[in-house]
Amino acid sequence: MSAVGAADGSPGRKPGDQAARMFEPRRGDRQETTRRIEQITFHRETRLLPQAVPYRGFSQLDRSESTSKTDLYDQLAAQLSSLLAGERDLIANAANFAALIFHALPDLNWAGFYFLKDDELVLGPFQGRPACVRIAMGKGVCGTAASTRATTIVPNVHEFPGHIACDSASNSEIVVPLIKGDQLIGVLDLDSPIDGRFDSEDANGLNRLVSVFVETIEWQ
Ligand code: SME
Repeated sequence: MSAVGAADGSPGRKPGDQAARMFEPRRGDRQETTRRIEQITFHRETRLLPQAVPYRGFSQLDRSESTSKTDLYDQLAAQLSSLLAGERDLIANAANFAALIFHALPDLNWAGFYFLKDDELVLGPFQGRPACVRIAMGKGVCGTAASTRATTIVPNVHEFPGHIACDSASNSEIVVPLIKGDQLIGVLDLDSPIDGRFDSEDANGLNRLVSVFVETIEWQ
């Protein structure tokens, strides 16, 4: 199950292309162990879903009914840029990034980072309940996204093989790899109590925010 457009710019992929993986059960067949793995591609600047989805829910930003996910991520990108401007400290910027999205994006119960250290993911700044500290590459949703370097969307974490449960409130998850140059730095992980909370617009929006973050920080 190779990624269609991983963030590493592998051959056959256009620069800037990203990939999202959607793990979901067969339609109408949620109880069976057989699972369908659907891969979708998306582009950093071009939404595959042309229609703006009315987006209601808690946000410290513009909460008008006309606010679409795209508008919300536009506002967040601007806020993140000014929040991180002039600061290059990894922990400080990751902490502010996690706090910004946790309070601005609706229906999240966890938002934070795992950073790559000695070939495993180690917990970084986050908002939410205490979480597991170390995740091996290839394990769980975070380890899968890190090892494939592909944004990974899991509509139902209870049906994802090997999901690592840190908070029993989590029902869906999205994990975005952090890549600086060609180096994997870690992952951004968002959890939601809502089934199917994340889609390709979130993947696009979060990849935009991650690009802003990665530009600011130093990584040895
Ligand atoms: N669910 C993740 C573990 C991290 S927590 O959600 C914060 C995973 O399966 O990798």
